[in-house]
Formats: sequence, structure tokens, C-alpha cells
Amino acid sequence: MTQETLFTDCHLIMLNPWFWTESKISELKASGLHRSLRRRESPPVSGRIQIDGSQLLNLGSNDYLGLAADGRLVDAVKRFVGYHGWGSGASPLVNGRGTLHETLERELAEFEGTESALLFPSGFATNSGVLCALLDDQSVVFSDEKNHASIIDGIRLSGAEKKIYRHVDTSHLAQLLEENHAAKKKLIVTDSLFSMDGNIAPLCEISELAHQHEAMLVVDEAHATGVFGERGQGIHGLVSLESPPLIIGTLSKALGSFGGFVAGPHTVIEWIWNRARSYMFSTASPEVSCAASLAALSVVRDEPQRRDELLVTATWLREQLQLLGWDTRSSSSQIIPIVIGDAGQAQELSRVLWQAGFFVPAIRPPAVAQDASILRVSLSWQHSRGDLESFLEVLGKPVS
Ligand SMILES: Cc1ncc(COP(=O)(O)O)c(C=O)c1O
Repeated sequence: MTQETLFTDCHLIMLNPWFWTESKISELKASGLHRSLRRRESPPVSGRIQIDGSQLLNLGSNDYLGLAADGRLVDAVKRFVGYHGWGSGASPLVNGRGTLHETLERELAEFEGTESALLFPSGFATNSGVLCALLDDQSVVFSDEKNHASIIDGIRLSGAEKKIYRHVDTSHLAQLLEENHAAKKKLIVTDSLFSMDGNIAPLCEISELAHQHEAMLVVDEAHATGVFGERGQGIHGLVSLESPPLIIGTLSKALGSFGGFVAGPHTVIEWIWNRARSYMFSTASPEVSCAASLAALSVVRDEPQRRDELLVTATWLREQLQLLGWDTRSSSSQIIPIVIGDAGQAQELSRVLWQAGFFVPAIRPPAVAQDASILRVSLSWQHSRGDLESFLEVLGKPVS
């Protein structure tokens, strides 16, 4: 029998094993939870984008400092790509980790005020790899209910027993720690700046509890890196903590580049590079992306006014939204939720804003709880008050 006839025969008798996807997609559409792919047709310049044919003010990006298309990052890539090439060719432990990876890791450790740092292909891979490396089936992990999906997945993969505490509720965390005091290995993990509500975790109290209960503490600074802290190192740089946490960060939001990192004591980092599967079994990031990240770190160091001005504008916008009667939850950052509730209504308001020239994503389940849909406004340093006044004008009008 030839390969061709074998294939034809199989084709004739096989049922379609993917048949269920069609009905599941119909279900998503019926419940207003279906997502379509979008196509961005311009680089993110001046806080604006062209997307699916429309020119819009981009209030839906994590490029908080306006660095993603900054000439200094672009020049750094151009300067180094000729020598380093593009792909890194192997996982970091084989031979994919180059001199620029090492330089960036050293600079990140200095930036975060830690002994060491280690680069991962993304922030998602950092969380899943680090949590799996630190936890095992003898561990108990305490996690805020609104932690990012990559933390949730890391915990699931680790096999540790999980205790989910109510959002930013340190009394609940204390109670769960008390109940599990005898556990051999304990770890508390929290976002420092929550990605949907833009509020900040009570790191001092959490760190004190970690200290009291001899628990490891991991803080994900993904949305705070470059924005908060005296030199942009994140929220842990603003508070005096009982003992230094292990820091997770990303280069792909305020730093306008790509990749994730973990920073902390050298032995912990050494354990992570020996055990984190998303580090060991994934190709190292292109070395020139490190050149862009190094250029971004220089901007963060030399231009603190970007983060200062961003946060001043965010405070002003929050106040204006509240004056218009919108609920912005307990945001105190450049991420400002506008609470809508119903997924369909959130989508409709997002559509109205799009028509008026503003890109603001509707965040619906499963990214948020049922009936807790929001419009997620994320500001960039590049947005002017004039831009935002026009945005407020649209939100001041009743939706028809
Ligand atoms: C809190 C948090 N951690 C980690 C990540 C993942 O980072 P990256 O986009 O670099 O994979 C995100 C991304 O949105 C995030 O919001």
C-alpha cells in the first residue's frame, strides 16, 4: 500500500476529532466572551496606533513609558544585530546565553538591588518556571485571588497545596498561614501592582507575615517595573520590607522590550537555573533584545520625569473619571479600571470609544470574575492632557 492510499483510506473513515471546537466557539459568541484576532498596522508611536484600519489613541498598551518604539532602543538593536545575529540558537544552559544576556542580568541585579538576576524568555515563563522550581508536593503556597494567570499556572504545575487568600486581605492571609504553620515549605506570592485593577498590594504587611511564618516571599513587579520606586525598580523599592522578597519582573511592559527576569540572592537564582523547566527547556531570547533592554534601563535611570509625570497624569485622570461618576475601584497607578459589570455592556462601550477614536479594551471573563467586566485604561507617558480631555468628553455622554 502506498503512503497516498493509506492517507486516503484513513481520511475516509476518520471522524473529525476537532468537532467540539465549533460548538464551543458558538457558546463563547452567545455569552459575549468570544475574542477576535486584531491586526495592529502601525508601531506604537506617541501613544497612538493604527489597528484594523482605524487611527486610535492607544489606551490599551503596557508601553507605560513610551519606550517600545523609542529611537534609542531601535538604534541599540541596529548596532548589535550585525555582530550577534538574530536567533540565539539554543537554550541558555546549552550555549544560547551570550555576553549581552550576562550584561543585562548584571544590570538588572543592580537595578533591583539584589545579588543576582536571571533572564527568561518572557514574564509568563518566569513565573511558571520560578514557582515550579521553588515549590513541590510538600509545599503550601499562599496566593492572592487576583494574581496573574502565569502565577496561577505555575502553582498548578508545581503540585504544591494552594491556599488562595482574599484579594489584598492580610487578615485572611494571616489566618491561612496560622492554619498551615506546620508545613515544611511555605511560599507567599503576590503581584505588587495588580494588572486589572491597578491597585497595590500591602507589601509591608505581607513581608512581615512572611517573616513571622518563615515563608518565602515572591513579588511579581511586572506592571511596576520602570514605573514605581526611586529608580524604577518596582514597588518593593518604595517600602522597607522585613526581609527582601524574590522579585519577578518583565522587560516587555514599561521597558518597551521583551523577556522576563527573576532577581534575588545568588543561591536562589542558581537553584532556579538548575530547576526551572521554562528556563532549561526553552531557547534563550535573541541577544539583541538584551541590547534594547539595556538601552531602556538607561532611559529609566536618566529620565525619572517619565515615571513621575505618568503617575501625576494617572492621578488626574482617575479624579476626572470619578467626578463623572465612574467607579475606578482602588486603582492608584497608571492602570485604571472603569467598572462596567456586564460583559456585553463593556464590549459595547469599548466599541463606542473606538468609533470616537480611542482604543480601550473591554476585559471580560475569564480575565476577570463573572459580572466584573471592566474597561481597562492603561496610560502612557506619551498621552497628553488634551488627548485625555477628549476621552473624558466621550465618557461623559450617556451611551445610546
Ligand atoms: C502580573 C503579570 N505578571 C506576568 C506577566 C507576563 O509577562 P510577559 O508579558 O512578559 O509574559 C504579566 C503580563 O501581562 C502580568 O500582568
